[in-house]
This record gives sequence, C-alpha cells and structure tokens, in this order.
Amino acid sequence: MHDKRDRLVDRVTLEGYQDPLKVPGHVAKYVSYDRAIVHQRLAELFPKGSQLLALGEGAALDAEFLAERGRQVLVTDASAGLLRSAEERTSSSGARSNLRFLRHILPLNFPPEIKPDSLDGVYSIACLMHLRGRGVEKVLLNVARVLKPDGAFYFTFPEARDDLDDNGRDVNGRFYNCWNRSEWLQAVERVNARLASTDVHLVQDGLVDELGDLGGRPGVKFCGLCLKKK
Ligand SMILES: C[S@@+](CC[C@H](N)C(=O)[O-])C[C@H]1O[C@@H](n2cnc3c(N)ncnc32)[C@H](O)[C@@H]1O
Repeated sequence: MHDKRDRLVDRVTLEGYQDPLKVPGHVAKYVSYDRAIVHQRLAELFPKGSQLLALGEGAALDAEFLAERGRQVLVTDASAGLLRSAEERTSSSGARSNLRFLRHILPLNFPPEIKPDSLDGVYSIACLMHLRGRGVEKVLLNVARVLKPDGAFYFTFPEARDDLDDNGRDVNGRFYNCWNRSEWLQAVERVNARLASTDVHLVQDGLVDELGDLGGRPGVKFCGLCLKKK
C-alpha cells in the first residue's frame, strides 16, 4: 500500500544512492567533477560565519570547501552511506568543527532542530532534480520557513539531459525532473501564492548561472538559480 510519503519520495532513486556497493563509485564520480564554478558562487553568496543547510549533499565536497573557509554547514542527505563516507573523510580535517551531519529525506519536513528564520543560507547541488513537482514545492516552502529574511537559497538543476528514458529515468532507474528554468521559476511562483497570507516570499536574485557540463558529459547541461527570502 502506498501512503502520501511514498508518492513524494522515489524509492528506486533513493536506493540507487544507498547501495553500499555503489557508494564508493558515487564518491569517486563527485570528486572527479570540476566544482570550481559552484564553489565560487557559494563562497560569494555565503560570507564567512554563515549558518548553512545543505540538502542532498552526498559526499559533502561543497560543505567541506565552505567549512574550511569558516562557514558552518549542517550536511543532510538521504543516503546514510554517503553521509558516513563524508564524515569519515572530513574527520581529521580543519573543516570538521564547522560540519554536522544528519540523514534527512526530501521532501519531508525539515527536522525540528532547524528553527524558523534561523539560517543565512540553504543550498542544494544536483539533488532537487530527483523530486517530482509537489515535492519541489514542499522543499521550497520549508526553505522559505527556515531562512532568515534576506537569506539565500542556491540550487542547481539540469536543463538538458540526453541519458533519460520517456519517464525521466536513467539507466539505473533513477528519476530526474527535467524542468527548464522557467518551469523552476513557475514552481517558485506557486509557492509564493501559498505564502500569500504572510509577508514572506522567495524572489529570484537576478541570476541564473549557466554551469554547463560539470562531469564530462556533453549532453548534460546544469544551471544554478539563486532565490532570496523577502
Ligand atoms: C547527483 S547526487 C549530488 C550529490 C552532491 N550534492 C554533489 O553535488 O556532489 C544527488 C544526491 O541527492 C541525494 N538525494 C536524492 N534524492 C534525495 C531525497 N529525496 N532526499 C535527500 N537526498 C536525496 C542522493 O543521496 C545524492 O547524494
């Protein structure tokens, strides 16, 4: 029997990242990506001392970069294996005191320890693409709730992928929500409509980064979008 949670969470996708035999391969792949553009953007958006939440952070390579430079990051991901490997890798690094790790499955509500209006920033690199539309909207609502006013949410998504079947699944069965940038912005507008009775909403920060292909796959094009809480 499927409950509401099952309809929002794609089990096959999660299992692809949980499989202990596959975790080392995922980590090796993420390490091989050129992350310079993403790091530059994150460092510009979130100054030293920022309190950050990372969603679907996998091997925590971006969190480690930020933590080494004085940002505090709560690293979340659905995969216990990826989190464990990130925790082990950073255990003796200078970044460790600025990192915390927590398993969390999107789009479920954020854990209660993440208080409303408490964070300078939230980011999610190549993760929200795995959620269906209503799941994305739920995440945006939760992000709007936990950001401080003027806090920023930066996330990346693929605008093009040539490796998916007609149902948006790759060769391993993982689901990808292949919205283009205007569809992502429409989701933001729908969330703002639901926030209409409050004075909080998410506005585009005037920037859509063209990140291109980060992983040596010419048919995959990523973008980054920055939203601010007003
Ligand atoms: C393509 S990887 C990107 C990992 C990392 N952000 C990076 O850029 O290296 C996607 C990540 O999203 C996580 N993920 C997928 N679906 C998720 C969900 N429903 N909730 C939380 N994390 C999820 C996976 O476990 C995986 O770590």
